[in-house]
Parts: sequence; structure tokens; C-alpha cells
Amino acid sequence: MYRRYFLAALAAAALVPAMPATAQETVKVGLIIPLTGPFTTTGKQLEAAAKLYMQQHGTTVAGKKIELIVRDDAGRPENTARIASELVNNDKVAFLAGFGLTPLAMATAPIATNSKVPMVVMMAGTSIITERSPYIVRTSFTLGQSAIVIADWAAQNKIKNVVTLVTDYAPGHDAEKSFVERFEKAGGKVTEKLRVPLANPDFAPFLQRVRDAKPDALYVFTPSGVGAILMKQFVERGLDKSGIRLIGPGDITDDDVLNGFGDAAIGVVTAHNYSTAHPSAKNKEYVAAYKKANPSMRPNFASVGGYDGMHVIYEALKGTKGSTDGDALMKVIKTLKWESPRGPIWIDPETRDIVQTIYIRKVEKKDGELYNIEFASFPGIKDPVKEAMKKK
Ligand code: PHB
Repeated sequence: MYRRYFLAALAAAALVPAMPATAQETVKVGLIIPLTGPFTTTGKQLEAAAKLYMQQHGTTVAGKKIELIVRDDAGRPENTARIASELVNNDKVAFLAGFGLTPLAMATAPIATNSKVPMVVMMAGTSIITERSPYIVRTSFTLGQSAIVIADWAAQNKIKNVVTLVTDYAPGHDAEKSFVERFEKAGGKVTEKLRVPLANPDFAPFLQRVRDAKPDALYVFTPSGVGAILMKQFVERGLDKSGIRLIGPGDITDDDVLNGFGDAAIGVVTAHNYSTAHPSAKNKEYVAAYKKANPSMRPNFASVGGYDGMHVIYEALKGTKGSTDGDALMKVIKTLKWESPRGPIWIDPETRDIVQTIYIRKVEKKDGELYNIEFASFPGIKDPVKEAMKKK
């Protein structure tokens, strides 16, 4: 009986063509990003950074050849989910990566769960995303991380009344809630909470209300790419000269577009995880290499999410010795800790979310360019929304 099975197995094995000695197995990484539409700048930053990482670290990891497949979802969740399915089912990718906006990550989470393919969220910042699948890891940030830091700074710097203005979707709601709770706990008062639509935002009527309300500060969250319109309208309405301070998470003073705002942006204080001007040796090297590869661009906070996301993929494969088993990869991912161009970061093994330093920065002009100059830092900041849930 056994002998017969044994002989059959031998015969079957003989039919499998032997791999030529030089053939290398390929591990495919599907990078789904907005390369058209209103969030193109985010996609371009993620792509440039992911490619820079590969250029610097080679394309062979644990004996496997890494192939990056870049697909444009135009920032539309229905596209993201369809592309993710195709990448998993047809291309057999070992990783899904990218996700320029929260709804794009949310739409893809069930695909990661069903296929057990690790999903690296390189940009989207709503707290709940990582809870949507055990195969999700985040290398970007959560809005709460920056919101609590700028709330404390505001309360300690004679800002007593604040109007909040956020884009009306999940990360905006997180940015609003975390700020309001923290600022009011510190004794401040939020007098009005305004929300603007995500699509085609017109900030003008909202800014008029802010002008009339005359708070000490206007706290703003808009996703990267939209902040430019807000800053333009803030200046056009003369709010920059009205004594109302503009504060918020650093999405509004995005390094990618900051130079285009002109001197009206000087003095704006924000809290964020990354500045092109971060003074570490690692970042100086990163900025120089990034600019060399992309002469018309300046790396922004999206870029470090892409760069560190590739680091997670490379290190996970090294840890599994090249195995693409989703559970084995996630086990390694939960142990990762490294120095990013933004500073020291790690993956919280309990939540698979990023832990990082949040910096307070002020826009200043240096060598004829505008930069977010860091002047205080708060290391080891976890997502405050998840931290609060743990205490309940
Ligand atoms: C998001 O949709 O989660 C998002 C996008 C851009 C940002 C921040 C958050 O700048």
C-alpha cells in the first residue's frame, strides 16, 4: 500500500520541472495610489519614496526578487478595491501597499483579511483603519497623534478660544475629536466646530464665520493636497493679518506645497511626524537622495510613509527568510523598530499601528525657501484614540 503511494509520489515529483539554478522567485508588491485626480501629489510622493528605497536597498531580499507593481486608483475607493482584488487574484502579490486616503484603505481591508495578504497603509490616518483587518500595518500616522500635541501647545501658549475647521470625513472627525477633548481638558474652549466637504471644498464662507467669531486660533485639518486652497483663501480674506493664529496637524503646511504659499505662511505653528527640515543625519541623506532622484520635488510626510512602508516589507521578508505566508510576515512586522528619516519609530505589536515622535514646528524662511522648523519633540506617541479605548 505505502510502497505504491511512495512510487506514485516519486513519479509525480519527476514530472515537476527542475528550476534552473539561476531562476529567482519573484515577490510582487502591489502599490495602489492616487496618480490622477485631486490627490495626485500624495501618490507621486509615495511612489517616489518607495522607488528610492528600492534603489538604495536593491531588489533582492532573502533570495527573492522584489517586483513593484504600481496602479492608479485616482483616489476612488471602488477603484482601490477592484485593483486590490486583481492584484491578489491575478498577479498573486505578497503585499498590498499605498492607500492615499482613509476610504481607500477601508475599502481594501476585507480583501486583506480574506486573502491573508499583508496590507501596508502608507498614508491614510484614521484610527480605526488598523482594526479593520489583522493583516493591516500602518507606517503613516494617526490624526490624533498630532492633534493632542498641538492641543497641549495651544493651551500652554495663551490660546484660550479656538474654532475648529476640518474636512468632513473620518480623519477630519478624528482630528476634531482628539483636539477638542485634549484642549478642553487643559482649560481651553472650542467655540465652534466647522466641517467642510471633501470634494471641491470652498473654505470662503467658513473663513468669513471665523473672522466674525474672532477666536484666538483657528485649528484646521485638511488632507494633503487640499491644504493649498485653504491657505490661499485664508490669506485672501486677510485672516493672516487679523490676529487669529492658524494651527493644526502638519497636513496644512505640507512640505510638498509649502513654498507656493508665500510669506503669509510664515509663523504658522503645527504638530506633525515629519518635516523636510528634520535635522538628523539620516534625514539629510534622505532629502538629498530624494531630490537627486526627483529634482522637482521635496519629500513630505507622505513620502516617509512610503519609504518606511517599503522598509517594513523588506524586513518582514528577511524575517521569514523569504516566506510569503501572511501570518508569518505579520508576526515579524509586529517586532519592527528602526530609525526613519522622521526619527525613531516602531510598530505597536498590539495594534499594528505606528508609534513615533511628534514635533511642534513653525514655518520659517531659510535660504529663500519655506520650511517647517521643529522646536519641540514628543517621543513615543501612540494613537490616542486606541489608547483611550484600552482604558475603558
Ligand atoms: C486620510 O484620508 O486618512 C488622510 C489623507 C491625507 C492626509 C491625512 C489623512 O493628509
